[in-house]
Amino acid sequence: MATTPAQIPCDIKSIELADMGKRRIDWANQSMKVLQIIRKEFIKNSPLKGVRISACLHVTAETANLAIALRDGGADVALCASNPLSTQDDVSACLVRDYGIPVFAIKGEDNETYYQHIMAALDHKPQITMDDGADLVTTILTKRKDVADGVIGGTEETTTGVIRLRAMAKEGVLRYPIIAVNDAMTKHLFDNRYGTGQSTIDGVVRCTNVLLAGSKFVVAGYGWCGRGLASRARGMGADVIVTEVDPTRALEAVMDGFRVMAMADAARLGDVFVTVTGDKNVLRGEHFDVMKDGAIVANSGHFNVEIDIPALEKMSSSKRTTRQFVEEYSMKDGRKINLLGEGRLINLAAAEGHPASVMDMSFADQALSVEYLVKNAKNLEKKVFAVPEDLDKRVARLKLESMGIKIDRLTPEQEEYLASWSEGT
Ligand SMILES: NC(=O)c1ccc[n+]([C@@H]2O[C@H](COP(=O)([O-])OP(=O)(O)OC[C@H]3O[C@@H](n4cnc5c(N)ncnc54)[C@H](O)[C@@H]3O)[C@@H](O)[C@H]2O)c1
Repeated sequence: MATTPAQIPCDIKSIELADMGKRRIDWANQSMKVLQIIRKEFIKNSPLKGVRISACLHVTAETANLAIALRDGGADVALCASNPLSTQDDVSACLVRDYGIPVFAIKGEDNETYYQHIMAALDHKPQITMDDGADLVTTILTKRKDVADGVIGGTEETTTGVIRLRAMAKEGVLRYPIIAVNDAMTKHLFDNRYGTGQSTIDGVVRCTNVLLAGSKFVVAGYGWCGRGLASRARGMGADVIVTEVDPTRALEAVMDGFRVMAMADAARLGDVFVTVTGDKNVLRGEHFDVMKDGAIVANSGHFNVEIDIPALEKMSSSKRTTRQFVEEYSMKDGRKINLLGEGRLINLAAAEGHPASVMDMSFADQALSVEYLVKNAKNLEKKVFAVPEDLDKRVARLKLESMGIKIDRLTPEQEEYLASWSEGT
C-alpha cells in the first residue's frame, strides 16, 4: 500500500495529480451551496468530533466536498470507491495531499483491488459507514465481522443498496441501523431523475459522439432514473422507447408520451440501449441476437449485471476497443454490437457523474444523516430508516434559498383549514 510523504495511508494513482484535483473540487464546491452552509455549521459546532467514518462512494469532486465537510465537522474519514471505474484519480490525490483524508481508489482497478480497497477502508475501524450500493455493510457481514461491534450506524446512497439492506434487515442479519438517504425526497426526485438523466446522456455522448436526434433510444426501466433519462433523451430529439416489468410504471410511461413495448420488440428497433433497472440480464442473448448492426448498449444501473456480458462474449467471434470506453463485439453473422464502459454505470465511467448542483442535495442529506446518527443511533433498531422529514424539508428549503427562490407559507387560517376534517362544507 502506497504511503504519501505526509504518512497518510492510501492507494491512489498518483499524488502528482493533486493540483488538477484541487481545481476540480473547488469548481464543484461553487455549485454546492447547501453543503457549504452545513459545512460552516460543522466547523462551528464540531458535531462529528472524533467519529471514525468509512465511506464507500464514487470518488468524485462532489464526494470530495462531502468528505471535507465531514472532516470539518470533526470526523476522521477514510474513503474507498463504490465502483472500479468511477474514481477521479486527481480528486483522490488532492484529498490525500491537501486534506489528509486517506483514499483507497484507482480508476480502472480490477475486482480484487476493488475489494482490497474496501478492506483498507474498513481497517479504519469505522463507527459510521457510508455506502453507495451496500458493499461496506456486505463486507462487514461476510468477511469483516471484527468491525461490526464498533459501528453505531450507516447511510446508504442508492436504490440498489437500499434494496440489499432491506433484505438484510428482513433476514435479521443487519448489525446496525441504516439511514436510506436514497429515499429522501431531496435525493431520488432530483439526483436519480435529473442527475442520472443528464449525466447518462453525457456518458453515452462523450464516449461515442453519437447523434441522438432521430435515433431510436431504448430506456429499460421507468423508475426515478429511467424517467429522467427518457425525458432527457427526448429533449435531444431521440425517438424514445421504454421497456418495463411494472404495469403502473409502464402505464405512466405511455401517458408521458413514450412508446412502451417488450424488450424482445425494442431490441429489433433500437440504435442506443440504456438499462437502468437495478435488475440483472435485462439485455441478454435473445436480444443481442436481433439487434441492428452497430447497436450501442450501455448501463446506468448500479451493478454491471444488467447487460449479460458473458453471453455477448460467447456470441461474438472477436472484439476490439474502438474508442475509449467503447468495446466493439463482432457477432458471428457479421453484425457489430458496441458495449460502453464495460457495462458499468456509464455516467460515471465515461463522464463525470451527476452535476455538483444536484449532488449538493444528496450530500446535504448524507451529512445531516450522519449528524443525526451520531446523536440518535443508540435509540434506533437494526433496521433501515428514512431520512427524518424535517431534515429532508430543510435541504429543500436551503436549496431554494441558494437559488434565490422564495415560496409562500401557509397562513394560520390555511393551517387550521388543512388540519381540520370538519372544514370545507
Ligand atoms: N447512474 C447513477 O448515477 C445512478 C444514480 C441513482 C441510482 N442508480 C441506480 O439505478 C438503478 C435504478 O434506480 P431507480 O432509482 O430508478 O430505481 P427504481 O426502483 O425507481 O426503478 C427501477 C425500475 O426498473 C424496472 N425494472 C426492473 N426490472 C426490469 C426489467 N427486467 N425490465 C424493465 N424494467 C425493469 C422496475 O419495475 C422499476 O420501475 C439502481 O440500480 C440504482 O441504484 C444509478
